[in-house]
Amino acid sequence: SESDLEQHFEHTIAKDQRIEPRDWLPEAYRKTMIRQIAQHAHSEIIGMQPEGNWITRAPSLRRKAILLAKVQDEAGHGLYLYSAAETLGGDRGDLTEKLISGRQKYSSIFNYPTLSFADVGVIGWLVDGAAICNQVPLCRSSYGPYARAMIRICKEESFHQRQGYELLMAMMNGTRKQREAVQDSVNRFWWPSLMMFGPSDDDSPNTAQSMAWKIKRHTNDELRQRFVDMTVPQAETLGVTLPDPDLAWNADRGHHDFGAIDWDELKQVISGGGPCNTERVERRRAAHEDGAWVREAAAAHARKQQQRKEA
Ligand code: ACO
Repeated sequence: SESDLEQHFEHTIAKDQRIEPRDWLPEAYRKTMIRQIAQHAHSEIIGMQPEGNWITRAPSLRRKAILLAKVQDEAGHGLYLYSAAETLGGDRGDLTEKLISGRQKYSSIFNYPTLSFADVGVIGWLVDGAAICNQVPLCRSSYGPYARAMIRICKEESFHQRQGYELLMAMMNGTRKQREAVQDSVNRFWWPSLMMFGPSDDDSPNTAQSMAWKIKRHTNDELRQRFVDMTVPQAETLGVTLPDPDLAWNADRGHHDFGAIDWDELKQVISGGGPCNTERVERRRAAHEDGAWVREAAAAHARKQQQRKEA
């Protein structure tokens, strides 16, 4: 009966085991999971744009090869995640349609422009660093296909983070102009990176239920704090200043205190009003429309193969 199934689901969660596609699950769990996985997939795909912007202008063949590999990984992550959404009955075409019509979200961070090559390094260091901080606990998320996808994705994100830090190290050991470019980029990306973790806990409608279902393992504020604590010593090693006069070690808490986040800015970017929202979604729409012939050709080929098999 329905209540037996529900009990089995609750038990699986309580025992810290995984929910698998074959298992019964509450409709609300399915909906939340598809929402989070789809938003995550969209973020990976849209996230190709800000850095893709620098592929043709990378300063050396080595930097170009690294950047190409990284952006290609992001495409892979997106496709991998859409596949995980499909195990819950999400339809890839439908999810893409929702993204390009502005009905589904993607991470706020990708709505900021990349103004210099230093941004490639800072995105690797801060944005991918924040992504790792948020995603490592998701390797233990209760939905099996999502948790397993996260393992590979985190390994690749860790390479992305290191390439960013290594690039910044090289620039910080370079000319004064290069050091200034890094500092300018850090000034622009620090606060938006903190916003990636989402609204504060008392303003996060989904956290309580997602924690109860063990989809999320930590709250938004816990992970944001972890990221700040992890990043401060890295900034010191690099020799850059994080643009927050209130940033200070608090011995009592055993954590760094930091200044107030501009929540209005996050709300504005999430609701479509960030500096690059329109451009990002338009570009994705154009790519989707330009790719229609590929999808049609693939479908025609599949039909032909099927007919041959039947003949
Ligand atoms: N950018 C855009 N939307 C956001 C952001 C953000 N930085 N933070 C929160 N939101 C959205 C939520 O998705 C939610 O949307 P809804 O209208 O569909 O409900 C709403 O704002 C309220 O936030 P929360 O209640 O805190 O939502 P949630 O519990 O889902 O937590 C979080 C948000 C932490 C982003 C979570 O979904 C998550 O961990 N997702 C997986 C990681 C991910 O998507 N990373 C993408 C960026 S990293 C990368 O791709 C390199």
